Amino acid sequence: MSKNNDRSSVDGVTMLGALKYPSSCASSAELLNLKSRFPIFAELPEVVFLDNASTTQKPDTVIDTIENFYRRQCANAGRAMYSSSLLASQSIERARHDIARLINACPSEVAFTSGATDSLNAVAWSWGLANLKDGDEVLICFQDHSSAVSPWIELQSTLARLAVNIHIVPFQIHAVGDYDLKSIKQAVTDRTRLIAIAHIHHVFGLEMEVPEIREIVGDDVVITVDASQSIGHTKVDVESLTADFLSFSGHKMFAGNGVGVLFAKKERHAEIISFRSGGRMSSIGTDIDDQSRNRFINKIESGTANIPSIASLSASVEFIESIGIKDIREHVSELTKYLVEGLSSLPGIVFGPGPVTCGCPGGFGIVSFNFEFASSFDVAAALANENIHVRSGAHCRADHASSDDLIRVSLQVYNTRSDVDILVQTLEELLG
Ligand SMILES: Cc1ncc(COP(=O)(O)O)c(C=O)c1O
Repeated sequence: MSKNNDRSSVDGVTMLGALKYPSSCASSAELLNLKSRFPIFAELPEVVFLDNASTTQKPDTVIDTIENFYRRQCANAGRAMYSSSLLASQSIERARHDIARLINACPSEVAFTSGATDSLNAVAWSWGLANLKDGDEVLICFQDHSSAVSPWIELQSTLARLAVNIHIVPFQIHAVGDYDLKSIKQAVTDRTRLIAIAHIHHVFGLEMEVPEIREIVGDDVVITVDASQSIGHTKVDVESLTADFLSFSGHKMFAGNGVGVLFAKKERHAEIISFRSGGRMSSIGTDIDDQSRNRFINKIESGTANIPSIASLSASVEFIESIGIKDIREHVSELTKYLVEGLSSLPGIVFGPGPVTCGCPGGFGIVSFNFEFASSFDVAAALANENIHVRSGAHCRADHASSDDLIRVSLQVYNTRSDVDILVQTLEELLG
């Protein structure tokens, strides 16, 4: 990938001289030439996309799946007996099987939503509303993403109107960036019913110690895992995570927008009430007997599905499996190390919690930092003017910690050492 250095500066941002890319060993993604599978990189060769924790780019097969639906087989699912409608239903069920395989679940434990936010809300409103009683406690971390925290705050105020007072008990993140297990131990009581955790933190990029958290809270406490930043980066296995619920978005794992997944363990299905009611999303036939109404999937899914995006999940799982999740993890981890090395040489850099502060080599592609003498917003805007896409700000943290304003660089399997070199050299130029 080459960077276009010929354009003028915009809004007074330093114009860069010709960049020289240090020669570096080709990484596995470079060898696989993965960028060639992502049409956007051919369309926009000047862009260095380093905001993958926000969303991922889409491989050709995902785009083809979505286009094919609208061009050749546009029909609603579960509504008719003609072939395109039956195909739509089949593609939904195929995606359910593919996702179940990816996360080591049964297809009957996988429901489709509109995204991780929707899935996380579904846990609060279909499980929390039905099961939490006066005096019960829910453990959450306010440094997590708002989508994992806000549904419980909203539920608390709705239940209060019904004279059911639940308590939100906060636990903390350690200075290095993972959960402070001591604070979880201190927060657990015999009234704890649920703990909401992230698998990988969206700003600090560390993998949380989920099995250890299960040991601390015990078998009776429901664990809801937000896997938004781990899916497509590392193995997400609902059994080894001992998750009761697990949520993620399709768009962060190379699939289309507007689709998410909610996994719910079989043992929880009877405890769940309908999240949304209405017409069924996918199954063929018109039966509305109690048995079908009480199925987990039917309590979560209703109305017309986002069929092309759901179908694109199959293409994205196929993409992930064609590389292998171990190789994706290894590549991203190696590149994270390379990124940290490059950034460390920059004057005035202050790393946020994460791979640098925890002293763990590698990581999951997320590195956050700021500079002593420049605001994160200004630096991110200057990088944007050089076609380098990163994120800045409070990163949707539930505590809206603007004092922790950080630049976040986030990598995926198609990123290369050249991308990192361009970022580091551009920062050198901008800060120099
Ligand atoms: C950890 C985490 N949880 C939840 C979400 C919300 O995902 P979505 O906006 O796709 O619903 C995000 C998005 O950035 C996230 O990083």
